[in-house]
Amino acid sequence: MPYDYLVLGSGIAGLYAALLAAKHGSVCVLSKGSITESNSARAQGGIAAAIGPGDSPAQHREDTLRAGAGLCDPAAVEVLVQEAPSHIRALIELGVPFDTTHGAVALGREGAHSAPRILHAGGDRTGAAIERVMVERATEAGVTLLDNHAVTALFVEQGRCRGAHARSVAGEHRTVAATRTILATGGAGQLYTLTTNSPLATGDGIALAFQAGAVVRDMEFVQFHPTALALPSARAFLISEALRGEGARLLASDGRRFMPHYHPDAELAPRDIVARAIIAEMQRTQSDHVLLDITHRDPAFVAARFPGIYQHCLSHELDITRTPAPVAPAAHYLMGGVLTDTWGRTTMPGLLACGEVANTGIHGANRLASNSLLETVVFSQRAVAGTLDQESAALPVPADARPLAPHDTAPPDRATLQALLGDHAGIIRDGHGLRAAAAVIDSWPTASGQPATLTAMELRNMATVARLILHAALDRRESRGAHYRRDYPQLAAQWRRRLSYRRSSS
Ligand code: SIN
Repeated sequence: MPYDYLVLGSGIAGLYAALLAAKHGSVCVLSKGSITESNSARAQGGIAAAIGPGDSPAQHREDTLRAGAGLCDPAAVEVLVQEAPSHIRALIELGVPFDTTHGAVALGREGAHSAPRILHAGGDRTGAAIERVMVERATEAGVTLLDNHAVTALFVEQGRCRGAHARSVAGEHRTVAATRTILATGGAGQLYTLTTNSPLATGDGIALAFQAGAVVRDMEFVQFHPTALALPSARAFLISEALRGEGARLLASDGRRFMPHYHPDAELAPRDIVARAIIAEMQRTQSDHVLLDITHRDPAFVAARFPGIYQHCLSHELDITRTPAPVAPAAHYLMGGVLTDTWGRTTMPGLLACGEVANTGIHGANRLASNSLLETVVFSQRAVAGTLDQESAALPVPADARPLAPHDTAPPDRATLQALLGDHAGIIRDGHGLRAAAAVIDSWPTASGQPATLTAMELRNMATVARLILHAALDRRESRGAHYRRDYPQLAAQWRRRLSYRRSSS
């Protein structure tokens, strides 16, 4: 018997969808790694919702639209901000232990938000706290959780998605049939050497959906988090924007505070602006990092408010209450993804998407901080709700979707691909580099048939997503939000449109 719902991915979007879907039918969740390993579980800062005194969904909407640099879908943003407060209540009812102050939910501040509206849990362990509750509730709800199962392809018959083909870590192949399949596989930060993402974030969902014929959109917009720990001995580790919300300052390696020279909101400017300013300061000082300084705040406050970051840095012999942390930008979030409407519907019947893998249009060219955890709950709830009364509907393929010929290659290894994208499709790009990188990908050997190993599967998926990023970045001949081209440094009114891609038949 097919499951009523198959959910691919076990981050917060996938588990929340599974939990809600379990009220309406049988549910199976497939997770590539362990059930709790996801980008969601690494989210620190929190989840945005306009619930504070003097704040409003209208203000949250304006901040989201401004950060998105003219490319957000206003109707989708309206859904996000209006539904946020009720989802916070639902999360609290499910048992999420948001931090409180004086008996009320504590609200932090992050870049480009005009009000304190970031709820957090366990200080800076918000994602892990929500993920833990989701795993418990999904288990209680009788959801079948299959960990260590990588999806090798969507199971498509007569143009309809009917589940997925998967391979267990032990090498067993199985087909999981389902009436509806919900993609919630997260992002693709592993396309870059420096990333805050989980090692599992290889863009699988986007690649699988694109390979199966679904339309993807906004792939040129990759968000780089401005402040990842940059110690020679440690991998990149997120240092939450919430530190800057609590007053941390960015200093160049020569000790000069620089953000006030780049933007009136200084350290709390939108992320793309802070990331580019850091790159400029690193170049000016010939350094591989800048410094994030919170040493002026009470050490006990810093250690209690940011226990995860404080402990992680201490484990690398860095006490952030005494010494500024070396930081540099790292790949963090992909605004692009599988095209959906606000009900999670994709252009493929039977296939829905929610969370980072989806492209609803809420983020435009640059995501507002902490809207990503919010998106996971708002749009996974709607994806499930939509199946109850719009059963077989799929989105029409947009008339302007650009055909991209299939060219399924695989890089020799992950590091080669990461270096290529870092060099040519990072924070600052140009046409010459983008074209050269696309040519390199096309020159790699063709990946044909079912990949024999998880590594081979991930490499093929990463090459597919990399190719989409490169083509979209080449096609957008302007600079907007997170997409900055030194050969087209201006924002151009004629480019206030979204770029969609579909796989052509040859
Ligand atoms: C952070 O804590 O800085 C990350 C939050 C986000 O990416 O929205």
